[in-house]
Amino acid sequence: MRRLVRETRLSAADLIAPVFVQEDLGARVQVDSMPGLERLPLGDVTCEVEAIQKLGVPAVMLFGIPSGKDGTGSRAFDENGIVQRAISQIKGCFGDRMVVMADVCLCQYTSSGHCGIVRGDRIDNDTTNAVLSRIAASQAAAGADVVSPSAMMDGQVAAIRGGLDGAGFADVAIMSHSAKHRSSFYSPFRDAAGCAPKFGDRRTYQVPFTNAREAMREVASDVREGVDIVMIKPALSYLDLIAETRRRFDVPVSAYSVSGEYALVKAAAMRGWVDEDEIIREVLHSIRRAGADMIVTYFAKQAARTLDDDR
Ligand code: PBG
Repeated sequence: MRRLVRETRLSAADLIAPVFVQEDLGARVQVDSMPGLERLPLGDVTCEVEAIQKLGVPAVMLFGIPSGKDGTGSRAFDENGIVQRAISQIKGCFGDRMVVMADVCLCQYTSSGHCGIVRGDRIDNDTTNAVLSRIAASQAAAGADVVSPSAMMDGQVAAIRGGLDGAGFADVAIMSHSAKHRSSFYSPFRDAAGCAPKFGDRRTYQVPFTNAREAMREVASDVREGVDIVMIKPALSYLDLIAETRRRFDVPVSAYSVSGEYALVKAAAMRGWVDEDEIIREVLHSIRRAGADMIVTYFAKQAARTLDDDR
């Protein structure tokens, strides 16, 4: 009976697994603040994606860590860049059996650690958009199915859509980090990806956690610019915004359960203070219940392994 009246379902098919690939890395490196997560050398990527695919998770989200940074983040759009090589390797092995999404941002690639090009002490929004468009086109050329801008520049979706269409990649979809908040929940990720800002913070481009209406304006502008999938990020402290987005917009909604959300659960579970698998089930179901169609989560593999909708 409980199965018949169940309202929210979660399956491996709803999950997207982040994968970190680092240039010139000899062997896998454990991320201290994210137990269980590793940065991979290019040679280990196929094996990792195979494990993800076998668990029924349909998509990966690739993050690259280059071996050098510069003022314009040029490694981000290098056709031989680490992400571009990882994409073509994965598509070569798995074809349509794995959806490859790639993060489009600059913070791992710029000396400033900011998500945009810095001029003086400011982010140059429009120059950054031109670079983001170039990054997305290079990822599409490598075979990416979905590009996922996380830089939070105004107009980034329009710039990327125009660039992709102009370069013959009209079929490549855009999943935008539409309402990405300035959040302390990102600290472990910055540890994993080496992308903490060298000065200042991201509050001139990310949404403040105090402003729900502003978050909806960010989603609305992405929809106007032709986005395919919108995203609310982080997830757990922003369930109200996921629900509001679901109610207001008729587009697929994704939620990114970020590194800090992962770290909180792991830290408590490692001390035996909570039941890890049960907490993961509850967290992921709550994000689905709020209205997310899909969830980017570092628990993707672990959740896919332990999901059991009959419980
Ligand atoms: C940067 C980026 C961040 C995350 C994804 N892309 C960090 C930031 O904005 O500082 C965070 C993801 C996570 O914490 O899991 N473009």
